[in-house]
Amino acid sequence: MRKIDIFDTTLRDGEQTAGVNLNAQEKLEIAKQLERLGVDIIEAGFPAASPGDLAAVKRIAEEIKNSSVTGLARSTTKDIDAAWEALKGSAEPRLHVFLATSPIHMTYKLKKTPDEVVETAVQSVKYARKRFPVVQWSAEDACRSDLAFLVKIIEQVIDAGASVINLPDTVGYYSPAEYGHLFRYVREHVPNIHKAKLSAHCHDDLGMAVANSLAAIENGADQIEGAINGIGERAGNASLEEIAVALAIRRSFYQAETRMELKEISRTSSLVSRLTGISVPPNKAVVGRNAFAHESGIHQDGVLKEKSTYEIITPELVGVSSNQLVLGKHSGRHAFRKHINKLGFEPGEEQLNELFGEFKELADRKKELTEEDILALLLEHQIQP
Ligand code: KIV
Ligand code: ZN
Repeated sequence: MRKIDIFDTTLRDGEQTAGVNLNAQEKLEIAKQLERLGVDIIEAGFPAASPGDLAAVKRIAEEIKNSSVTGLARSTTKDIDAAWEALKGSAEPRLHVFLATSPIHMTYKLKKTPDEVVETAVQSVKYARKRFPVVQWSAEDACRSDLAFLVKIIEQVIDAGASVINLPDTVGYYSPAEYGHLFRYVREHVPNIHKAKLSAHCHDDLGMAVANSLAAIENGADQIEGAINGIGERAGNASLEEIAVALAIRRSFYQAETRMELKEISRTSSLVSRLTGISVPPNKAVVGRNAFAHESGIHQDGVLKEKSTYEIITPELVGVSSNQLVLGKHSGRHAFRKHINKLGFEPGEEQLNELFGEFKELADRKKELTEEDILALLLEHQIQP
């Protein structure tokens, strides 16, 4: 089994979600839960962004012991100095420095020639390595960059001392096949790549962030970046909980594992949602309210006979106490009886048929039936517990 490092950016890219602003105490609370979740690296913030973020990263770096803590910096001495101020108290100070490599970004945003970009990247890594033992370098907008240029700049930043190379799909542009190819290409063409780990960082603009991250793993990525609940810039980052569960459930296919404590997933998701104010869509994989809910009679009958008929993930695996059989117009007699029995009632076969008929009529009028609806039906029929 290959070990995949999990780099959590909930507190940096995740905090870049429009409308989200976490204070130092909230960031620390999330960082402690991420530590319990077993992520390898916590990107705690962007120290040069504000004095408040610098202070929050500093506190997290001092208090978190079982995950590495990192912070983001642009390729300037000012940003790297701010990151050092924030991270120097951590057990193994680790910097994440980035520079854009695509023609679009170099021309319009950086206004630098490709040679100037190589020079800036190399100088920033050399400067960072004077203090930080571990430096991750990211080629921002890697997916819209020229491959030969990427190979050249990566070789030089590794020579300058970077030990992790990240290839972000900054704008969520690639398909899984293309992203996988990028990793294979870099592995095959950068002569000194064996001296560095390769990292994937995917955005979800086309809804492919998790699929792209898994494609990167299939093609040699050593580290995966993402955020809890998939929060982040625009459509967000890859959902770390989905990737970790996919690796666990499809272990024999991916032949890769993380050190994440999957049973902490549900608690982490709720905490991030509560503190960021970003709610989790009900149908979201792994952490959505409906991820373990069955509504139709056919499915309910199946899981009552054998859970694996319609559940590939057990709720307990991710810290959810049980699945749910939701009563609605598609529900069957089997689940209906089970609900009634759970409430302490045991009507005879004939009474059950009558109740079920009325339940179906009610279900046609209401989206979802509650315990109160069922109790009202039982009361009307004067059925005693
Ligand atoms: O999406 C991106 O390119 C980033 C970099 C700063 C790594 O978040
Ligand atoms: Zn990003």
